[in-house]
Parts: sequence; C-alpha cells; structure tokens
Amino acid sequence: MNHIILIGFMGSGKTTVGKKLARKMKLDFVDTDNMVEAYTGEKISDIFARQGEAAFRRLETEMLRRLLEREQRCVISVGGGLPVQPENQPILKELGTVVYLKASVDTLVGRLRGDTSRPKLQGGDLRERIIRLMEQREDAYQAAADVSVVTDSKGFEQILKDIAEKTA
Ligand code: S3P
Repeated sequence: MNHIILIGFMGSGKTTVGKKLARKMKLDFVDTDNMVEAYTGEKISDIFARQGEAAFRRLETEMLRRLLEREQRCVISVGGGLPVQPENQPILKELGTVVYLKASVDTLVGRLRGDTSRPKLQGGDLRERIIRLMEQREDAYQAAADVSVVTDSKGFEQILKDIAEKTA
C-alpha cells in the first residue's frame, strides 16, 4: 500500500499535521485513536481506566490491521504508543511510508501541559514522564520510520513541504 503514516510522541503534531497534509493532497485522513473510540464507543481514557492499557493496545492493533484492507490512499495518524508494540511494526511497513514527526522535550512539555486526555501522562512531573517514555520509545520510532521530520519551530507549510520532499 502507499498510504502516508505519521508516527511520533504525543503532542508531536500527528493529528494537526495529518489533517493539513490530507487536505493538501486531497486524501482522506484517518486516526487510529478515533477508530478505537468509534469502535468501542468509549473515550481512550475510559478504556485505559476500565480495561487497562493492554486491552487498549489490542484494540489499536486490530484497528491498524483493518487499515490493511483499505484500498484508497490516505494519511494515517497513529497513537504515540502504537509503534512500540513489536507486532505493529510490520503492519506499519506494509501500510506505506512511515513519517516520524520529531519534537523536542521542551516543545512537548509546552504543548502537553494541562492535558487530561492522555492516560500515559497523568500524575507526577510531566517533563520527567515525557523524558522517560521518550527514552523507552525512541528506538521503536526510529525502527518504524522511513523518514523523520523535525517539527520544532517550523510552521505547518514548512513541515508539509518537508514531508512532501521526503516522501516523493
Ligand atoms: C498514547 C498516545 C495517544 C493515545 C493514548 C496512548 C501513548 O495518542 O493513543 O492516549 O501511549 O503514547 P496521541 O499520540 O495521538 O496523543
């Protein structure tokens, strides 16, 4: 398949960039978090609270697998933890070109402060949580990515240009 898949940490801009990219390329935009919520009829924070993270990860993989059946090219944004699950890596590769949106810890802290929708960031010091999770995830992001785009202090037009150039 030749979809464009955006991966990266929470707050790296996958959804915002993905929607703009899709509009520009006249493609549909799909988000695995939205798919999980539509499928279960529950908010992600409620799934984490009621069924636990492992159940959420199974749902994410199920949604990712479903995208393999999609024939129309689209831009896909996936949850920040999805590439960390080893079983998802070959599915990502099969789906198309994987773009890693990279943002610095400072940028992420600024964007994620006050966020209550992301269970992985609740409680304790936000910066510490981001640093620890980033350390755990960086290798998986690199392994999944075909190309990386740094998003810090770049406008959307520049980010879209970078993605277009690197995926051409
Ligand atoms: C998660 C990221 C979230 C969502 C869930 C878990 C993670 O998606 O899937 O809260 O483990 O990084 P976004 O990256 O779109 O915020």
